[in-house]
Amino acid sequence: MAKLKTIYVCQDCGYTSPKWIGKCNSCGAWNSFQEEVEPQKDNSRKLVSSIDAPKNNFPLPIDEIPKNSIDRFHSGLVEFDRVLGGGIVPGSLILLSGEPGIGKSTLVLQSALSISQKVLYISGEESIQQISLRAERIKDKNKNCLVLSETNLETILHQVNFTQPQIVVIDSIQTLFSERIDSIPGTISQIRECTNAIMQFAKSSQIPFILIGHITKDGTIAGPKILEHIVDVVLQFEGDSKYLYRIVRSLKNRFGSTSEIGIFEMTGIGLKEVLNPSEFLLSDSDEEHSGIAIASIIEGIRPLLVEVQALVSTAAYGTPQRSSNGFDTRRLNMLLAVLEKRFGFKIATKDVFINIAGGIKVSDPALDMAVIAAILSSGFDIAIPRNVCFSGEVSLTGELKFIPKIEQRTSEAAKMGMKTIYLPYSKKNEIVSNNISCISKRNIQLIFKDIFQNKNT
Ligand code: TYD
Ligand code: MG
Repeated sequence: MAKLKTIYVCQDCGYTSPKWIGKCNSCGAWNSFQEEVEPQKDNSRKLVSSIDAPKNNFPLPIDEIPKNSIDRFHSGLVEFDRVLGGGIVPGSLILLSGEPGIGKSTLVLQSALSISQKVLYISGEESIQQISLRAERIKDKNKNCLVLSETNLETILHQVNFTQPQIVVIDSIQTLFSERIDSIPGTISQIRECTNAIMQFAKSSQIPFILIGHITKDGTIAGPKILEHIVDVVLQFEGDSKYLYRIVRSLKNRFGSTSEIGIFEMTGIGLKEVLNPSEFLLSDSDEEHSGIAIASIIEGIRPLLVEVQALVSTAAYGTPQRSSNGFDTRRLNMLLAVLEKRFGFKIATKDVFINIAGGIKVSDPALDMAVIAAILSSGFDIAIPRNVCFSGEVSLTGELKFIPKIEQRTSEAAKMGMKTIYLPYSKKNEIVSNNISCISKRNIQLIFKDIFQNKNT
């Protein structure tokens, strides 16, 4: 028997080296090399077609391609369909990634149970008893949902071929191993080989596969970026496991838009779709408290209203604390510096805490104005009326920058009962619609004067 040669493979980018090295020469990752068995030449490229393979496949002029509409399956969940671009495309490979415990298995199993198609759910992580216990919590029942606990790729593809399901779920891709590769499951060679084989199988059989993938602490899909290149759709499931809200975001979609998000709430009986998220993200109370400001933001392509809570108090110790939940702390520090420098608001000796209600993480810079409003409201202990909201990015000079999709932000705010929205200055923003008045200003000083007029002097 030929002697097995080992090589060292970077688990981040796939770069190989004959010796172990501490820092990858290709992607710069530290301590990412792992010893793997070098793939045998004779069994590595069996699936690559040779020159004379497809005799019935010819190039066509682009306008002569028959336009058969794609027949998508509904996933059974409106919010999941939304991020998929309208449903699951036959023969597609969908990767759903997320941190452990976020609810990936629950989401996919719930989707499998709420449709009537034949689904094969393959778990390499849980026994079939565990899956059936989970299914008991979820009310929907699909008699056509078959469950298999297996990690061997060859056995899995054999079973798929034998049972001919309409959708296959693999939970998770990191647990699979192929007999043709000698490395252990979870290594880059195994993940790449298994995903490639599944891709070829999916394309030839037209059976769609949903792959579940873990992500590492720094938020990337464990092991390979390569996986993202192979699959058709990459969805990320995010949220804070301490909170109930979960967001599915599409990072890549060959069959739809990548700017969609789906919002769910984790309940005792599985995930519940949140069709009107603004309603959930704003607290119910009608009482006005200082330190609260409402922002109209865009996540994906959806406008949302979120509540920013701030607490400004005198620092008990020498170094004031700055901490934020759901908002970038560096951006918070920048906004505090702007307040101090452009505004004369003495914040250097104050502790500042920011929290976005509902546990969602916001990346839209239009949140800036509400963060500042909440800080000032807490600092001066003056409540902002609950029917006022903000949308605008703040620059280092304290000027308000133009933000896109003003109309959507304004109409979402009006829909949620807001009477006033503060926006960056623009001639177009002077519109006063039937239900909401839009006040547009050039900088935060002007907004501040408007809201806390006379009250602080
Ligand atoms: P799980 O789907 O196992 O997460 P992942 O596959 O991403 O690792 O579920 C994670 C959590 O969800 C788990 O801690 C229990 C909770 N959960 C509920 O709150 N309600 C439910 O109905 C189910 C099935 C799970
Ligand atoms: Mg799981």
